[in-house]
Amino acid sequence: MTKKLFIKTYGCQMNVYDSDRMTDVLAPLGYAPTSQADGADMVILNTCHIREKASEKVFSELGRLRMMKEHARDQQGRNVTIAVAGCVAQAEGEEITRRAPWVDIVVGPQTYHRLPELVSRADPAARTRAIDTEFPEEIKFDQLPGEHAPRGPAAFLSVQEGCDKFCAFCVVPYTRGAEFSRPAKGVIEEARRLVGSGTCELTLLGQNVNAYHGEAPDGSIWSLARLIRELAEIDGLHRIRYTTSHPLDMDDDLILAHRDIPALMPYLHLPVQSGSNHILEAMNRRHDRDAYFRVIDRLRDVRPDLALSGDFIVGFPGESDRDFADTLSLVDRVRYASAYSFKYSPRPGTPAAGEDLQVPEDVKSDRLEALQQLLNAQQYAFNQSTLGTRMDVLVERAGGRPGQVAGRSPYMQAVNLVGDETLVGRIVSCEVAEARQNSIVGSVL
Ligand code: SAH
Ligand code: SF4
Ligand code: F3S
Repeated sequence: MTKKLFIKTYGCQMNVYDSDRMTDVLAPLGYAPTSQADGADMVILNTCHIREKASEKVFSELGRLRMMKEHARDQQGRNVTIAVAGCVAQAEGEEITRRAPWVDIVVGPQTYHRLPELVSRADPAARTRAIDTEFPEEIKFDQLPGEHAPRGPAAFLSVQEGCDKFCAFCVVPYTRGAEFSRPAKGVIEEARRLVGSGTCELTLLGQNVNAYHGEAPDGSIWSLARLIRELAEIDGLHRIRYTTSHPLDMDDDLILAHRDIPALMPYLHLPVQSGSNHILEAMNRRHDRDAYFRVIDRLRDVRPDLALSGDFIVGFPGESDRDFADTLSLVDRVRYASAYSFKYSPRPGTPAAGEDLQVPEDVKSDRLEALQQLLNAQQYAFNQSTLGTRMDVLVERAGGRPGQVAGRSPYMQAVNLVGDETLVGRIVSCEVAEARQNSIVGSVL
């Protein structure tokens, strides 16, 4: 009998990828995905620990799931298995079992290939729990099933995990563990399977994806640029992206790939976090603002139409008005096509959390607002600059309204088009007819 599996995903693209892989792992056990928690036999929360808000959400969601679980048991005589996966599971496994004893399974990002075993060990009826937050010896990717459900026209593919950079604000090195690059063979095989099932755009994922140095089929070591060159040879794979990159690892090879590989899309997410040298140093980012500018300038030399995106943190401990002004001036100089910005959130166990000189909440709010105003204006200006131009759009899904479809431009802009669902999965040539704050409207040529 098939059982229903509901997975709720928080956090980054890597978690989106992992959620799909958990679905694949559980398929042989008879679990089929469903789109709502109500009525599900198993609910997995795939969680994010990056900021306080993200991890607190998990506990309020667990409160709701407790009621659902009790209702199913008391009213329908049915057991619901509740699992917490992802980065909160890794960081706060103990805390979860203490605060939410109705959770049956706790599994970290590096052990979800063991879910079948954990499912058989956990027994909701007998209140037996299964917990696995190890960093195992075996390579998770080698243990995951080859078969997978089709992922759609644009899919993620994890090639690198973990992080050795230890930025002073960040939990990722603790929740995901040490940097690890997947051997190229498995990556290529997975890419081929995805393309065979209808995917034509791949986004290669890693917390530090441009630090990729994976074992090649001939035993040598491949850089990310080399891997991309190989993947670009796959018939039917029309678009390649990668995220997230660190400025320090943006080597010449990769920069030149943006000139030489037509399938590599003209969009790059390159977080800088701050424009102040003093704050960059305190953050342990290991480069200054000029080094960032040099990377950007070289990229734009080889690919003038490259759209840039970034991440920013305001209110890092010790950030003065002058430091913040440096961030604004950096943004001014770079001109982003889109960006994400956050108030600094002290995270347990990270060096910056214990520092004096925490910035008051209202100052953080004011700075965030000023920064977002500037970034929004830049995004709008970028969208406007594409007005009247022609571009290829990958149609990914039905649109918000009947008779509309939605997709992405080469520059990662969200695009709405008039058209029917037969266009989904196709790359269509469009003229940009309208430019808005967060999207553009294309007319099919
Ligand atoms: N590996 C990526 C970042 C992953 S986290 C990189 O190196 O760029 C995604 C973003 O969350 C970061 O770029 C940063 O802007 C933000 N972030 C991370 N820790 C944070 C914290 N403690 N408070 C606020 N924002 C944070
Ligand atoms: Fe976090 Fe820094 Fe590693 Fe990115 S590079 S995951 S921000 S520690
Ligand atoms: Fe969050 Fe973990 Fe990703 S902390 S951002 S889900 S790596």
